[in-house]
This record gives sequence, C-alpha cells and structure tokens, in this order.
Amino acid sequence: MNILIIGGGGREHVITKYIARNPKVSKIYALPGNGGISNLAECASISAEDIGGIVSFAKSHAIDFAVVAPDDPLALGAVDRLEEIGIKCFGPTQKAAQIESSKVFAKSLMTKYHIPTAKFEVFTEIDKALSYAALNDYPMVIKADGLAKGKGVTVAENFQQAREAIMSCMRDKSFGASGERIIIEECLKGPEVTVLAFTDGKTVVPMMSSMDHKRAYDGNKGPNTGGMGVIAPNPFYTPEIADFCMKRIFLPTIEAMNKEGRTFKGCLYFGLMLTNDGPKVIEYNCRFGDPEAEAVLPLMETDLLDVMMAVRDERLAEIPVKFRDASSCCVVCASSGYPAKYLTGYTIDFGDAEAVEGVEIFHAGTKIADGKIVTSGGRVLAVNAVADDLATARDKAYEAVGKITFEGMRYRSDIGASAL
Ligand code: AMP
Ligand code: GLY
Repeated sequence: MNILIIGGGGREHVITKYIARNPKVSKIYALPGNGGISNLAECASISAEDIGGIVSFAKSHAIDFAVVAPDDPLALGAVDRLEEIGIKCFGPTQKAAQIESSKVFAKSLMTKYHIPTAKFEVFTEIDKALSYAALNDYPMVIKADGLAKGKGVTVAENFQQAREAIMSCMRDKSFGASGERIIIEECLKGPEVTVLAFTDGKTVVPMMSSMDHKRAYDGNKGPNTGGMGVIAPNPFYTPEIADFCMKRIFLPTIEAMNKEGRTFKGCLYFGLMLTNDGPKVIEYNCRFGDPEAEAVLPLMETDLLDVMMAVRDERLAEIPVKFRDASSCCVVCASSGYPAKYLTGYTIDFGDAEAVEGVEIFHAGTKIADGKIVTSGGRVLAVNAVADDLATARDKAYEAVGKITFEGMRYRSDIGASAL
C-alpha cells in the first residue's frame, strides 16, 4: 500500500514510524514531513494547509490510504476532498471537524445533549463581552471561537487580563476570523486528563489516558503552549471515572454527532477536567493530541494502520485494541522563546540519547540542512521513554534529554512530577 501522511510534527513522526511497521505498507509519503520523518517517508514541500496541492499529490502518487493528522487540513476539508477522488482516509470530515474548529459549535452541542462542561456565554460584540467580564467572578476563561494554534485560550485572573484577551481577539484580531466570536467560560478546577479515542461513529475505543503539560514553564507557570510534555497513563483517571466518562461523555458525544448528521470517524480527543462535580469537557479536538500521541501510541500493542483502516471502513468493533501495562513520559525540547518568537536553524546534537533504554525521539520542528538535522520550529523534539512504571519512564526520558543539545534548547523539568 502507498500511504500519505499529512502534517510535519512530532505526532506525524510517531504515526509514520508505527505505520511503517505494517507489512502491507510499501511506500510512505509525507506532506510536508520533517527531518525525522524523512528517514521513513518521502517528504514533499507541500503545506498541510494546501488542500489543492495535497489532492493533486495524492492523485499522482497512487495513494491507497491517507492520514490527515493536524487540525487545519481537517477543518479545511482535506478528508472530504480526498475521499471524493476515491482515496480512503483516517480523519473526520469537515463537518465533523467542527467539534474542534468552532468552540461555539462544541459548547452548543454539549448543552443540547447534556454533556457535562463549564458554563459559558457567547459574544460577538466587544462592549457586551467587556460588560460581562466586569460583572462576573474571577478567574474567568476567555476563548476564541476558532482555531488559534493552541493559543486562543486565556485564563484571566482579573478584569485587566480579561480586557486584554477580549481586545486582542475581537479588536486586534490576533487570531484573525477565529476571534470574531468569543466564549467566556466559568473556570473549572481539578486535574486535567486527555483521553484520545478511536471511533468509527458506531464504536468508541478510548486509548490509554494521558496528562499534557500545557503551560510553558515549571510549576504550570507562563503562557499556554501546544504542550510541553505528557505522561501516560494519567493516575487521576481511575476505572470509576473512566466508566462515568464512557457513559456520560464519550458515547453521548458520538451519538450527538450522529444525530446532527456529522458522524465522527477518526481520533476524537477529549480534554477533561476532573472537578469536584465530576468530570467535565474542557475541549474536544478532532485529532490526536501533540505531544499526547508521542506518549500514548508507543504503548499501543495493536497495529496502528489496521486500526485506522478499520475506523475508515466502520468495522472498529472487530478489532481488539490493546495497550501495554506500562508507562510513558514524554518531554518536549523547545526553542528558547517558544510559544512567542524564537530563532531556528541550530544544529541538533543527539549524543547517544536514543540508546537510553525505552527511549524514542520524535522530531517536531526539525529539518535537514546541508546533511545535518537543524531546528525549524518552536517545539523541536518530543523525547519519550516507556518503562514499567512512571518513575522509571521519567528518569529515562530526562536521561535522554540530558544528552541532547542545541542552541537555546529549553524544556520543563517537572513533566509527570505531580503524578508521582
Ligand atoms: P484549550 O485550548 O481549550 O485546551 O485550553 C487550553 C488550556 O486552558 C486547557 O488545557 C486548560 O488548562 C485551560 N482551560 C481551558 N478552559 C478552561 C476552563 N473552563 N477552566 C479552567 N481551565 C481551562
Ligand atoms: N497537546 C494538546 C493538543 O494537541 O491540542
């Protein structure tokens, strides 16, 4: 089979690596891929947002199966366009991807189908948003409606911060059209859990739970990022909670999407907060999380491509999806300055990091220049270690990170610390 992977981050690297293990695979292409993916796949410099370019590439390279991994091409309808020309895809249609691409849609869906989530109001006018912000309790959460590269959410501690967030979205259009509508939401408290789930619209199979670390600095300080590290499983996610989530959140969401004529097929990401009032949905994403995928997929025993094809063909119920009884710890090595401005083009010295037991290094923002691997993004590497227990996985991941150097390299030193 000829496989096409859309995207070029750490998530796409882990997906490519595990798909490459399937004996049915003869050739993998990646658009645009990255320095690590290029060892496994032929990369072409077509952006993941260039849907026309992706479709013509797929047509001319006899692609049998495509995996559309990032949010942007899903929101732009990459799956719809590829399926139209007969190419089978893993990933939701544009209509189903709205569960991530419009927070107003997602919140309305949860309200309509009684899925537990934070109380909220929607605003399209600055004045009304400001008046509301002036009168309500803090902390308060301000969210841009649309996609904003993981940066559209502000947890405001006071009116000043809320005002800045509202102005940045609605007046300064920092997130373009994504910020024309905003949501102001009640601030929830409790441990956060990510549950990725395979679903074909009939069956939902949750993967092992995980814990992302979204803030830039140790101690959960600093701005939100795309994710600075992950552990799996998440120790706060007990079997009782998992049972509640299945009944009250996962199945109702799949049903709701079916009823709305937006059947979701692919990986549905449930961002949950375990509050004193029970688990609530913080957000849905229409795809694997990044770096959650780099921590969770290494624990999966079942062949990834087989599961993805079963999802596409709506026969997920036939495949027993199994996970190892082990732990992952994934530490992101980022460029100094991320998530704000940063410089790129620095050579990466990996030392013998990959020789550390249980460690795999996934490239996020890297490329090859003059035969060397250099930095090309904010999040540069996702270093994951698998071990029998979390403490060992953490030690191994940090041992490997300690062997890697590039100019401006920065990472959080407390990934998983709160779970020990
Ligand atoms: P999102 O982009 O929706 O994942 O939000 C980014 C992060 O903001 C989440 O992972 C939470 O840590 C935080 N957050 C979002 N919504 C809320 C909320 N209602 N209450 C508390 N924290 C939130
Ligand atoms: N790590 C969070 C996300 O992928 O949205």
